[in-house]
Amino acid sequence: MTIAVCPGSFDPVTYGHIDIIKRAAKIFDKVIVAVLVNMEKKPWFTIEERTDFLRKVTADIPNVEIVGFEGLLVDFAAACNAKVIVKGLRAVSDFEYEFQMALTNNKLNNNIETVFLTTSSENMYLSSSIVKQVGLLGGDISPFVPECVREGILQRIKQRSNLK
Ligand code: PNS
Repeated sequence: MTIAVCPGSFDPVTYGHIDIIKRAAKIFDKVIVAVLVNMEKKPWFTIEERTDFLRKVTADIPNVEIVGFEGLLVDFAAACNAKVIVKGLRAVSDFEYEFQMALTNNKLNNNIETVFLTTSSENMYLSSSIVKQVGLLGGDISPFVPECVREGILQRIKQRSNLK
C-alpha cells in the first residue's frame, strides 16, 4: 500500500489544491492531506477551519484523510508510513522554492520521495493569497473556490472590516 502526504497551508483550499488531491488519490492507495498548523504568515483561517473546509470538499474521495501537522514534514510523513510527498507545481515561479524543499526533505530522509504533479492549465495562476486578495477587493471568487470556502472568505472579510 503506497501512502502519500500532500502538504500545505491550505489557507484556504482552492480548486487548484482539490485538483491535485483528486489526481493524487487516483495514483496512490491513500492520500493524507497534511495541513501546516503553525504558519509564519498569519493565516486567515484557524487549523480547524482549514481542515473543516478540506474535509467538506474532499468528502467524495474515499482514500483521502485530512490531518493537521507541526514540525518537520518528513517526520510527519514517516510517522504516517508515507513514502511519497506529493505537491502541485504551477508556473516556473514555484520551481526554485519547491526544488529547495524537495532536496532538503530528501537530505533529511532519503526514504521519502517528492513527486510533482503539474497543475492543470486553468489553475496555473491560482493561489490562496490571490483569491483572498480578489475577495478583499470585491471581485467574484466563485471560479476559484467551492461555495463553502467562498462563504468562509466573505465572512472573514466582513469580520476584518468590522474590526477596522
Ligand atoms: O502551502 P505552502 O505554504 O506552500 O506549504 C508549505 C509546506 C507546508 C509544504 C512547508 O512549509 C513545510 O513542509 N513545512 C514543514 C516544515 C519543514 O518540514 N521544513 C523543512 C522542509 S523545507
